[in-house]
Parts: sequence; C-alpha cells; structure tokens
Amino acid sequence: MPIRDRKKEHVELTLNQDVFYQKGTGFERYHFQHNALPEVNMDEVELSVKLLDRTFSFPVFVSSMTGGYKGAEAVNATLASFCEARNLPLGVGSQRAMLEDPSETESFAVVRRMAPTAFIAANIGGAQLIGGLGEEAAARLIDSIRADALIVHLNPLQELVQPEGDRNFKGIFEGIYSLAEGISIPVIVKETGAGISLQVAEKLAVAGVRVIDVAGAGGTSWARVENLRERQKAPLHFLDNWGIPTAECISEVSGLKDSFDFGLIASGGIRSSEDIVKAMALGADFTAMAQPLIKAVFDGGEPSLHKLLDRFEKECRLILTLLGCRSFHDLGPHHLRKVTA
Ligand SMILES: Cc1cc2nc3c(=O)[nH]c(=O)nc-3n(C[C@H](O)[C@H](O)[C@H](O)COP(=O)(O)O)c2cc1C
Repeated sequence: MPIRDRKKEHVELTLNQDVFYQKGTGFERYHFQHNALPEVNMDEVELSVKLLDRTFSFPVFVSSMTGGYKGAEAVNATLASFCEARNLPLGVGSQRAMLEDPSETESFAVVRRMAPTAFIAANIGGAQLIGGLGEEAAARLIDSIRADALIVHLNPLQELVQPEGDRNFKGIFEGIYSLAEGISIPVIVKETGAGISLQVAEKLAVAGVRVIDVAGAGGTSWARVENLRERQKAPLHFLDNWGIPTAECISEVSGLKDSFDFGLIASGGIRSSEDIVKAMALGADFTAMAQPLIKAVFDGGEPSLHKLLDRFEKECRLILTLLGCRSFHDLGPHHLRKVTA
C-alpha cells in the first residue's frame, strides 16, 4: 500500500475506532496531595513554560501527526493556525512521504505559511536514518517548513505489527548520533506510544539528543491501529497492550536530569488537565498530545481546539492554585501521593 493511503487510513482509524490501550498511563495511580493552606492568588498563577530556550504559553506540544496525502493539508493548516494563535509548539507528521514523492511537500509546507512565527518541528522515522539520512534529504525536511527542530520517531512495535512495516532496526542509534552531531537545529527523539525506558533515554542523552518525548503507553496504541487495518483477515489483538506506561517512563527518565541536560516531554495518553499537572509534578518539562487534538480538528475545526485548550488552561490554573503553586515550575513529586491499594 502506498504511504499516502496508509497515512489516510491511520487518521481515519484513530478518529473512528477504539484504538486505545486497555491499560492506563499510570497517572491514575497518583492522587494530588491536597493543600488546605495554598497561600496563592489564582490570578497570579503563571502558565507559561520554557522548552529549548523558548517560552510557550502552556506546556502542550501538538504531537507529530499528519501530512503526505490529499486532505492532510487542511488538517495541518488548522493545527498550525491554532499553534500560531496560542504560542504552542507543533510537530508535523512523518515527512518520509515527501522525500519519496516531492509532490506531497505542500501538505507539510502549509504549516509554515499558517504559522510564520510558531515553533515547528520536522519529523522522520528512525528507520530512515539507517546508513545516514543524507545532507540533501535533511535539508529538504527542514527547509520545507523552516523547522526549529527535527523529531526522530521510534516505532519498532508499530513497524513489526504492520505487515508491510520495517524489519531492520540495526543502525538507527548510529544514525541518531550522526544527526545530532551534524545538523544545526536541535534533535528531539520520540516514541509513538510504547514508551522510552531509562536505558534507551540514557543512550539518547549521550548521543546529544536535546529533547526526549517518552510517548508511553496508555493512550493511542499503534499495535492496535495496525491490527485493525488487518481486521478483514482476522480479529487480531497481538501486542495491542505492549508498552511502558507514560507515568513510569517519566518517573524513571527524569532521574537522568541530574547527569544530562535535556528536555523531557510526557506524552502518550495525556487526556486531561490532571494528567498534565501530574506529568509535570513527576518531572516532565512539557507534555504533548496527539489523538484528542486531531479529533477536535475533525469535530469542530480550530474553534474546537481553542475550546479544549481554554478548558485545560482554566483547570490547570485551578489545580496549581489548589496545590499552592504559582507556576508549573513549583511542582514536584511531593505534590502527589501514590495510591497503594
Ligand atoms: C493520526 C495520527 C498520526 C500519527 N502520525 C505520526 C507520525 O507521522 N510521526 C510520529 O512521530 N508520530 C505520529 N503519531 C503518534 C503521536 O505523535 C503520538 O506519539 C501517539 O499517538 C501517542 O499520543 P496520544 O496517546 O496522545 O495519541 C500519530 C498519531 C496520530 C493520532
């Protein structure tokens, strides 16, 4: 199946089917530590957060999702216009399609026209780095959207469950290492829902990766999506629930921050303001969200995205106040209680 058809099918499945993990993100295992004496004026609570030396109005990265098929241009235009208006960072979907067919470039390039000043990240799969991405290809990805960062996505689970997916993963780490050394913009590495372990995060930090987005389990399951694509043949559930829950990734990987300088993003199943605050309390510098945002685009366009963000902002302000915090920076693990039973 050509990439463009697969990309379209992915979007349709994530909008219309139950593509989620049957286990939680792990955030449900934490309660907030109630503070009966908060000593904070809610009107003074500050929601802005820094990542990669840039200040954003709220710690939600619009995760890499789409591009590379007819119809993707409108979705990317809406996401970009929203990010420009709200000062949020945006990742485009995998740009492999435009490397293979330059006529697909416009569905990505539209984001820079719609968001001339926003922080926008390019995106390519780890498998495309085997043997080196090549200077010309890297320049095309970056220049087409005047990217502020380049995201490399790791998705071995999805590839292996996908019948036509990649089978060789030898050389991806070497490729990340060379990329981080060779390009002038920061490299971000993300998973796509199965999580990044402490051991993998340490290798990435050693390689000079500037931001790690754990994209853990508990939200969209890409094994599930691929199994659903095959449903005509057999109702498979093979490896649907494989992955490290997002909260576990964050508590483990955040420990590396004493030894390495990198930004940490919590994603994979971030669905509520409580998830956002818990992730930041456990040690994330930022969060990211995919499926709920593309769903909002299809449900009601840009106004739906604004409505969702307005709600998250309002609720986070309230939760921070209740915890006695004047900003996300004041949060720490002591604001949470682990549920024991
Ligand atoms: C429709 C859709 C398409 C996606 N395509 C990409 C992609 O091209 N590159 C990538 O790095 N991640 C891609 N992802 C994965 C997301 O960025 C994210 O890591 C994952 O869905 C988990 O987040 P969630 O639970 O908030 O959906 C896609 C997600 C969705 C919903």
